[in-house]
Amino acid sequence: MALNLEAVGQKIGPVKKDYRWKDVILYALGVGAGFDELEFVYEKDLKVIPSFGIAAVFEFLSHIAQKAEVNYAGILHGEQELIYHSPIPTEGTMVTEGKISDIFDMGKDKGAIVVGESVTCDEKGRRLFTSVIRLFCRLDGGFGGKPAPAAKVEIPERAPDFEDEAQPSQDQPLLYRLSGDVFQLHVDPEFAKMSGFEMPIMHGLCTHGYACRSLIKNLVPGEPERVHRLSCRFSRPLYPGDPIKTQIWKVEDGKAVWRTINSKTGDVVITNGVFEYGDIPKDEIRFDGKVAIITGAGGGLGRVYAKDLAARGAKVVVNDLGGARDGSGGGSVTPAQKVVDEIVAEGGTAIANYDNVATSEGGENIVKMAADAFGTVDILINNAGILRDKSFLKMDPESWQAVLDVHLNGAYHVTRPAFAVMREKGYGRIINTTSAAGLYGNFGQTNYSAAKMGLVGLMNTLKIEGRKYNIKVNTIAPLAASRLTEDILPPDLFDKLKPEYVSPLVLFLCSDRCEVSGNIYNAGMGVFNRAAVVTGAGTVIGDAASWPSVEDVSAAIDKISSLKNGKEYEELNAVVGDIINAFSSPAKAETPAADDSAGKFTDVAAVFDAMTGAFQPDAAKGVNVVFQYDISGDKGGNWFCEIADGTCSVSAGTHDKPTCTLSMSDTDFLAMMNGELPAMQAYTAGKLKIGGDIMKSQLIEKLFKL
Ligand code: NAI
Repeated sequence: MALNLEAVGQKIGPVKKDYRWKDVILYALGVGAGFDELEFVYEKDLKVIPSFGIAAVFEFLSHIAQKAEVNYAGILHGEQELIYHSPIPTEGTMVTEGKISDIFDMGKDKGAIVVGESVTCDEKGRRLFTSVIRLFCRLDGGFGGKPAPAAKVEIPERAPDFEDEAQPSQDQPLLYRLSGDVFQLHVDPEFAKMSGFEMPIMHGLCTHGYACRSLIKNLVPGEPERVHRLSCRFSRPLYPGDPIKTQIWKVEDGKAVWRTINSKTGDVVITNGVFEYGDIPKDEIRFDGKVAIITGAGGGLGRVYAKDLAARGAKVVVNDLGGARDGSGGGSVTPAQKVVDEIVAEGGTAIANYDNVATSEGGENIVKMAADAFGTVDILINNAGILRDKSFLKMDPESWQAVLDVHLNGAYHVTRPAFAVMREKGYGRIINTTSAAGLYGNFGQTNYSAAKMGLVGLMNTLKIEGRKYNIKVNTIAPLAASRLTEDILPPDLFDKLKPEYVSPLVLFLCSDRCEVSGNIYNAGMGVFNRAAVVTGAGTVIGDAASWPSVEDVSAAIDKISSLKNGKEYEELNAVVGDIINAFSSPAKAETPAADDSAGKFTDVAAVFDAMTGAFQPDAAKGVNVVFQYDISGDKGGNWFCEIADGTCSVSAGTHDKPTCTLSMSDTDFLAMMNGELPAMQAYTAGKLKIGGDIMKSQLIEKLFKL
């Protein structure tokens, strides 16, 4: 079965891991700490071994495998890199979010490499560490993709500067597995034999924990908070009880290379080790080397965005035509130049631009100026705006057009050339500026509301076109005191309506930490929230033979209008897919694939009832299989699913020749079907047993969208 190459770039998580001080100690004991390192095993003045972070990303790893649809039978945890931003607290919650960042093809015989990157934060959102996992997928190579760039760590040709012997016990994996990795290979002798080993093997990450302790002891004794980066490749299995030796070479200030060998056999079990240490740089969002264009930045919100971006290292193009609030007047260079002067006085880099965003030449010029002065464009904030408020009947064509020209057409004129630069370089952050008037309506602002919602539409499609090129497009609906709002907002609130309250969110959306695209945010007075287009489940009236009458619609208007089971769609195709599914299976549309109001399955039989409706005939071309489900427990039973010639039938009972048999408890099965237990994790944890053709079982996710 082929890897899912579409998975690259798709978000994974958040995956949460709650832990207490006892978990920290359990991990330390699992990786060999004892009385010698009391700070890791005694709750008084407890410190966390930084490699404990792996406990948070272990579940994330199974999501990577699942999303990339790798062949589970060939997976190895190949490489692991951890970059620390702040010390890991002794208890709390670790929240991990990330994505598959690349898939490499090493050839038919060597397999594929799936790279997963994630950031783990504490419950307050403070970044703790970044993880890069490389999964070696031995059975998935040869799909014609690019090979991974070679990365070899050079070991100096001299004796190690430090060498540390350790003797993991025969029972070490039994202790280590309690920190989360409960894969049978490390505990079940029969399973280990089936997988080609004499007995259960050590967890590579357990040996990695031993190495981490040794690196701390020799390079930052007693100061695990000074570990900055730990990376390595797992090269050989190790049996419990075999002695190990971690060898360390200091190669420069704050940097060492290392490896771990099996001292009994001489095999290198962990190679390519790099360890960086010292004071961890402050975890700031910076824009050094980035070039930003902000339109209409001569005052109000744009001025603050420009100053804040420059203060964090961006080179800024401050655009402003310098006209009146309604867009009239010939324009003035003063506002943009004044902001540039402020930025330069504060030590930043900026240039002024006076072009009119409402013309295509203006848009081209702004982007050209950025490219000529600073070489590129990374960030664009479409912020320029004017107002011409009038009630609708007084809304003359000129007032209508002038507002559309600056807001909507203006964004088009500047974004188009900027998008070309961003696409070429494979990076971009674009922010459009909408308004509550557009999102929710405001008397006297039909022109402005229409233009502002037009910007949301522009974002909706641009986010799709930019997806492949790491261009994120988001929209901000600010609320701030400025000349545009001086006669709209109550004057006594003006102080609390400083643009500085809006700017932090805009800067985040401009940063490379921003992974979202296509979102709309309200921001003002320190209040931040997200607005979205939500579509109700609705109802189906009429069928293939007859369309509904007006009276039918009238009778069903409450159901049609309801937002119950409302859903946010990523793009048009997803909506059309749901409409087609609803039309062919009307009952399911009203009670979508669930038997309770929270949208979750509570009954095993209900899953099998929903299965034919969830069947994807397009994915079943040429597939002839029988999946047997043996579910134990009170709610359990036996069902089988026959798929042949693009059709699917589900029956209770036992098939005499199933392609593969999936056995699980009722609670685990429900958790899996409700998306709470990833299939890969269920399998590695022994909660899901698969008999027969294991490869074919991987088709299930494609064949059914429950
Ligand atoms: P502002 O009037 O202080 O800033 C807008 C700037 O755009 C002005 O400096 C103006 O000279 C410039 N501009 C106008 N037409 C231009 C053109 N054709 N080419 C280049 N520059 C041009 O107003 P504010 O409040 O800072 O507004 C910024 C953006 O935020 C606007 O798009 C506005 O519609 C939007 N907004 C503001 C809200 C608020 O509460 N302040 C509420 C909702 C949206």
